[in-house]
Amino acid sequence: MSGILLTGGSGRLGTALRGLMPELIAPLRAELDITNPASIRATLERYRPEVMVHAAAYTNVAGAETEKELCWRVNVEGTRNLVRMALERPLHFVHISTDYVFWGDAGGYKESDPVGPVRNYYALSKLAAEEVVRVLPKYLIIRTSFRPSPFPYPVAFDDMYTGQDYVEVIAPEIALALRNLGQISHDTLHIATERKSVYELARRTRPDVEGRSRKSSAVALPEDISLDTNRWERVRGMGLEGGND
Ligand SMILES: NC(=O)c1ccc[n+]([C@@H]2O[C@H](COP(=O)([O-])OP(=O)(O)OC[C@H]3O[C@@H](n4cnc5c(N)ncnc54)[C@H](OP(=O)(O)O)[C@@H]3O)[C@@H](O)[C@H]2O)c1
Repeated sequence: MSGILLTGGSGRLGTALRGLMPELIAPLRAELDITNPASIRATLERYRPEVMVHAAAYTNVAGAETEKELCWRVNVEGTRNLVRMALERPLHFVHISTDYVFWGDAGGYKESDPVGPVRNYYALSKLAAEEVVRVLPKYLIIRTSFRPSPFPYPVAFDDMYTGQDYVEVIAPEIALALRNLGQISHDTLHIATERKSVYELARRTRPDVEGRSRKSSAVALPEDISLDTNRWERVRGMGLEGGND
């Protein structure tokens, strides 16, 4: 697949994806501001991509509680601006979403499970963005979760379970999916790893990390937001280009 345009290329995931896929076209925000429809139009006309991978977002979960307007403008209106332009051209749209679209008490969420209600404003904005993307004729929503490594905080929640992993584990999986979009017939895919506590994950890269309760966070957080990844494992098992199978 050629001609893949990436939004959010300067972010954590975007930087990792650019390292793995140097062919990605990843304009900086100065060129492509998703809150500015004119800059989106100009960028699409300049590069004429076949695929758009939308990884730009307002991602500060705690900040979103007080910066609701900015969070909504970037995550929902920004996505809507891209989708409007995508409706005008034959573009395969790949949207990076989050496990936070689920309530997060049961864990093991499948792609077909009902979403919401959500725990915080960031999650609400990402859920709304997914629904905007679903108006497109051709899209793939990838729900995922990742951390930079080493784990960036001295404390980690030992009562919050997740399928998230380090960005260097998750990004190659997403790159594999992007290289094989033609083989993926699903419209939603969970890309994550096994269920574990955030504390267990943190200890892998920061052995001195201290356990804390998620209740000490200023933002409401789920107790088990882990994802069922069987669908992605089945797709992977088909023997994808650039995969290990
Ligand atoms: N981090 C996680 O744990 C996590 C979990 C699940 C899902 N996700 C999703 O994964 C995606 C990538 O997350 P990340 O953690 O890599 O993000 P990040 O490091 O916070 O980076 C955000 C990116 O979005 C760009 N951006 C923000 N506002 C923009 C605008 N108005 N126009 C154009 N670009 C804009 C930023 O550009 P600047 O450099 O110019 O600011 C940056 O490249 C997001 O969709 C996020 O919701 C993240």
